Amino acid sequence: MTSDSLKKAALVTGASSGIGEATVRALAAEGWTVFAVARRAERLAALEAETGAVGIPADISADDDVSRLLARVTEAGGIDTLINIAGGARGADKVGAASTEDWEWMYRVNVLGTMKLTRAFLPMLRAHGEGTVLNLTSTAGLAAYEGGGGYNAAKFAQHALTGALRLEEAENNLRVIEVAPGLVYTEEFALNRLGDRQAADKVYQGVEKPLTADDVADVVRYAVTAPHHVNLDQIVIRPVAQAANHKLIRKG
Ligand SMILES: NC(=O)c1ccc[n+]([C@@H]2O[C@H](COP(=O)([O-])OP(=O)(O)OC[C@H]3O[C@@H](n4cnc5c(N)ncnc54)[C@H](OP(=O)(O)O)[C@@H]3O)[C@@H](O)[C@H]2O)c1
Repeated sequence: MTSDSLKKAALVTGASSGIGEATVRALAAEGWTVFAVARRAERLAALEAETGAVGIPADISADDDVSRLLARVTEAGGIDTLINIAGGARGADKVGAASTEDWEWMYRVNVLGTMKLTRAFLPMLRAHGEGTVLNLTSTAGLAAYEGGGGYNAAKFAQHALTGALRLEEAENNLRVIEVAPGLVYTEEFALNRLGDRQAADKVYQGVEKPLTADDVADVVRYAVTAPHHVNLDQIVIRPVAQAANHKLIRKG
């Protein structure tokens, strides 16, 4: 089945802030039907009013929420594109001082959340005939760094599951894209990771032009609107000031 009514409809997780929110805006502006998913209902309602996207509050790591989400989206006509953006980091401790709670949070959201959404929506995407899954990983999933252990472990795992999925689903004509950004300035990412504004601001201090959420959303939009047989399987996107994870140019 390659029904026109199912075309150009995406579910975007992480839609209440940062890259996910910018991606909802970018796809809604292209005329897509967009289901915007995150836990904070009030932020989704504002985005819904602004863009016409359908906000559905849900915790992607909770099985009941994922079932409810699948039912809502099915009832509303379905999707052909699943965009897993929800995730993030907690803490910057070295492995020897790791917080179990932080590591569990990172694994639960970045890895299990991506898996649960993907597992739930795969039958719909396969049935469509030209499905796409896009996972937002990170350059932290491609190279480890000191103090990155827990986030590295989660993003390496999300990167690995993305690779396995691409191999497993090619016969079902499913396109699987990975977008791995470096330093992106978003309001909440570093704040949630480090716990206070001062520490969060230091992450970006002196970096003249980090990536913005809109920069990444534009790349996501490009990748999912390219003709379906074009699979940008892994897109690494960094600001020019960050030539590698370990080389970040700060001025001043
Ligand atoms: N910022 C960067 O430098 C950077 C670089 C590379 C990769 N990334 C990755 O890009 C993605 C987005 O990052 P961002 O910078 O836009 O961060 P952000 O602003 O903190 O966004 C994270 C989003 O995930 C949602 N979320 C978290 N836990 C959830 C859960 N259990 N269920 C549903 N939604 C959940 C949050 O919404 P609620 O709190 O409302 O649920 C929020 O919308 C993440 O996967 C991050 O790891 C970020």
